[in-house]
Amino acid sequence: MILIDGKKAAAELREELKHEVTSLKAKYNRVPGLTVILIGDLTPSQIYVRNKEKSANEVGLKSEVIKYPDSVEEKTVLEKIEELNKDETVSGILVQLPLPKHIDKQKVIETILPSKDVDGFHPMNVGNLSSGYESSVPCTPLGCYLLIKKVEPNLKGKKAVIVGRSNLNGKPMTQLLLKENCTVTITHSKTKDLKAECLEADIIVAAVGIPELVKGDWVKKDTIVIDVGINKTDKGIVGDVDFEEVSKNAKALTPVPGGVGPMTIACLLKNTIECFKRSQI
Ligand code: GUN
Repeated sequence: MILIDGKKAAAELREELKHEVTSLKAKYNRVPGLTVILIGDLTPSQIYVRNKEKSANEVGLKSEVIKYPDSVEEKTVLEKIEELNKDETVSGILVQLPLPKHIDKQKVIETILPSKDVDGFHPMNVGNLSSGYESSVPCTPLGCYLLIKKVEPNLKGKKAVIVGRSNLNGKPMTQLLLKENCTVTITHSKTKDLKAECLEADIIVAAVGIPELVKGDWVKKDTIVIDVGINKTDKGIVGDVDFEEVSKNAKALTPVPGGVGPMTIACLLKNTIECFKRSQI
């Protein structure tokens, strides 16, 4: 079984990006900039944002974090986004989710200029991705896609089963694999026989948020299994895949932690650089 090392893949990607930033700096005399807006003091969000900032600095991006208290008015956030939209030194804007209840998430997402939407959450980017046009691609599915391609560069005709239909993961993952000529099935909580669907798969991407849902006897030999889950349980953090069991059957599997997570952040940096490059044309 191949244990897919997301930490190593992310470090390699960051190294590539570092070189790219150096050559962009030589060409344009400035570097891509990422601005993250963090609202409130949820610990997981704070940790994510700190990691994003650290990684951005490591590859040489200009990085800025704007923090607001939980009580911030929606208007203040929207006005800040408008200001960042106009700021030429800002290539990418990310508003860390989840947001406090009194702030309309969709309004926030739609205020970010599509060309600076490094999360790929703006409806314009969602539409462009599903139409096969150039767009920002959400960082987590992009990271999963790059890990899958490392194991199997030619995905033509492969049967992929996505477990979970979220806008964040399942749906964009589907688009990326369709572009590679996979036959894609999206499964979800109302799917009749999830095990039977998974048993058909050459590639499984589990992104539902149910601890260790995908079992060993759901996976045929030679299947690549990507585990997007991060679930807190009594025995610590586990994924959506039963690692013990599935590692005995699968061809390749991502661990949790150390699989998809590190790639997500590296892909955010990649998206920031892509946004910068597109803005220079
Ligand atoms: N919170 C957890 N994951 C994400 C993400 O990918 N983007 C944003 N903006 N917030 C998140």
